[in-house]
Amino acid sequence: MSKITIAIDGFSSTGKSTVAKQLAKYLGYVYVDTGAMYRAVTFYAMKQGLIEEGDFNVEALIYQLPGIEISFKFNEPLGFAEVYLNGKNVERDIRTLEVSGFVSKVAAVSHVRQKLVEQQQKMGKDKGVVMDGRDIGTVVFPNAELKLFMTASAEKRATRRYQELVNRGDKVIYEDVLQNVQERDYLDSNREDSPLVKAKDAIEIDNSNMTLDEQFDKILNLVKITL
Ligand code: C5P
Repeated sequence: MSKITIAIDGFSSTGKSTVAKQLAKYLGYVYVDTGAMYRAVTFYAMKQGLIEEGDFNVEALIYQLPGIEISFKFNEPLGFAEVYLNGKNVERDIRTLEVSGFVSKVAAVSHVRQKLVEQQQKMGKDKGVVMDGRDIGTVVFPNAELKLFMTASAEKRATRRYQELVNRGDKVIYEDVLQNVQERDYLDSNREDSPLVKAKDAIEIDNSNMTLDEQFDKILNLVKITL
């Protein structure tokens, strides 16, 4: 059976990566979490002191970009690829609320996008890939055979993200998580370069009131129709 490209875009914390991982496992495809790449660059910038309390040294980040190497390595027990920054596993470091607080500013920088989009296109060039992000169906793979656009109410999304952070032991306040989710959606949707928009040919999935199983079944059906 010929392989296709599945592009999953949508708002923050809509469960894109959960369904992308399920699909990749089921189909034997590669899963690429492009948000992790923007988060890794943000983590790098924070560690280098390029972002501090509302102050972001964009020029320095652009200058240092060629030295930032992002890669993925499949973790067998986990069943998905973890993200590495210059050879170091940063999977845990990039998921903090602090990184979430800056990532949309870093993702608005065109030089950063160019570098990461080029890498994403290379990773998906042979198809057989499920890629999730904000611009996959519009910019990275505008010819993807299946495009999904995920939505859910802001409260549902913040509750899910809050639970995720609490489960891994982070001390966070629900209201801060909700505010972050809303702020990121605003910044991602209103930036000049590759804003978050639903591709004309994307299928919208509102999972506010769907169980994970219901969502997977619905999306798998769409995949089967597309194959
Ligand atoms: O998917 P995740 O929520 O981890 O993404 C973190 C951030 O990375 C997003 O809020 C967005 O600013 C940025 N991003 C992007 N383009 C992508 C993936 C993520 O701008 N393709």
